[in-house]
Amino acid sequence: MKISDEQLTLINLYKNAKFSEKLKIYARIIFNFNQIKKHLDNYIPESGSVFDYGCGYGIFSNYIKIKNPKLKVVGFDISTTRINEAKRSSEKTDVEFTNTFEDFELDNLKLVLLIDVLLFLKHIEKIELLKKIYNSLETGGIIFIKDTLKSESFRFKYTKFEEKLKLKLKVYGNDVKPELNYMTPSEFVEIITTIGFEIIDIIPENHFVYPGIFIIAQK
Ligand SMILES: C[S@@+](CC[C@H](N)C(=O)[O-])C[C@H]1O[C@@H](n2cnc3c(N)ncnc32)[C@H](O)[C@@H]1O
Repeated sequence: MKISDEQLTLINLYKNAKFSEKLKIYARIIFNFNQIKKHLDNYIPESGSVFDYGCGYGIFSNYIKIKNPKLKVVGFDISTTRINEAKRSSEKTDVEFTNTFEDFELDNLKLVLLIDVLLFLKHIEKIELLKKIYNSLETGGIIFIKDTLKSESFRFKYTKFEEKLKLKLKVYGNDVKPELNYMTPSEFVEIITTIGFEIIDIIPENHFVYPGIFIIAQK
């Protein structure tokens, strides 16, 4: 497997991370980054603000800021451990990372990322969050969602099992609720369009282990 210059740049940002976190960060950059980047690249704005909800260690927030340093990029995550590593990584990129959502004025956003995070939110929480995001986006602003593709497939069952195990082992720390709330593509479309978004693209993707879905919508 060839590691790109972009992946190496990201790996370098985390060289001072705690050893236990570093393994998870590097695995994300090496095994999942390219799959997401190839779709995300089409939606990085030329100017304005980007919000990365559930940013984890901030890999995609940092990536976007490196791609376009003119952007204001803010990353939020519920996990203190992950945000602390994100903050450490941002010394060079100047992304703002926080674990207190309320502090941020989320106005005139051009792009919001929800990468592998909505599965942790209850149905009602997803709706509330997506409404809040809708109100904070500029007209024409984009939500870029990546989630697990819920289906009857063996890969989905395996992914769910692995995710349950991670929650049991507290891989995401103590702040993440120990439950999973996957949605089918049509359930996603229903929620998103009811709020007022227009769907731009839906891309189901069969990663060699993890089945994913990308949903891109516009205000
Ligand atoms: C699979 S990781 C993805 C992280 C990042 N988006 C990425 O793609 O690298 C899921 C993240 O969602 C965060 N998370 C879970 N529940 C959350 C919530 N209710 N609010 C914000 N973040 C949450 C976890 O702490 C974790 O960092």
